[in-house]
Amino acid sequence: MSEQQIRRALCPGSYDPITLGHVDVLVRAAALFDEVVVAVLHNPAKHGLFGVEERLGFIERAVPEAVAPRVRVEAFAGRLLVDVCRDVGADAIVKGLRGETDFAYELPMALMNRHLTGVETVFLPGSPEYGHVSSSLVKEVARFGGDVGGLVPHEVLAALTEKFPAGS
Ligand code: PNS
Repeated sequence: MSEQQIRRALCPGSYDPITLGHVDVLVRAAALFDEVVVAVLHNPAKHGLFGVEERLGFIERAVPEAVAPRVRVEAFAGRLLVDVCRDVGADAIVKGLRGETDFAYELPMALMNRHLTGVETVFLPGSPEYGHVSSSLVKEVARFGGDVGGLVPHEVLAALTEKFPAGS
């Protein structure tokens, strides 16, 4: 397939850390597009729980084998999403929506991004089993010793347990 025919989606986020809700969305994006770029957008002035290299590694190893050849993972520091889309040649942004709160947060960003360069955002309804799952909630629950097994990839679970032994 020539570069012109390839339909490429960009799945942006902080991914601090990736959850199984994110994995669900990127696998479904890979069913709709030829290629998926998972873009870890971060602010170099802010420290997340996990470093950027660690986040990239978690994502790379969480992508199921069946779609891995068509998924690439990259980090971008302090950039506008629309500029990242241009740089990687993305045809659309793909985001998962867990509910109306997500929609209220995402809609102005989708409209702004389309205003800036015309890039469209495709919203996928999040799978109900992950409707309560976000990186920030997972971190909070893990920090206080709650069980987040089944909500994040195994490697992320192990890393959270190491960071917060017995909820510290
Ligand atoms: O995982 P998150 O924190 O919900 O991801 C939000 C993210 C990084 C996708 C969003 O904040 C973003 O697009 N940041 C890049 C800067 C930008 O383009 N801001 C204007 C959006 S209209």
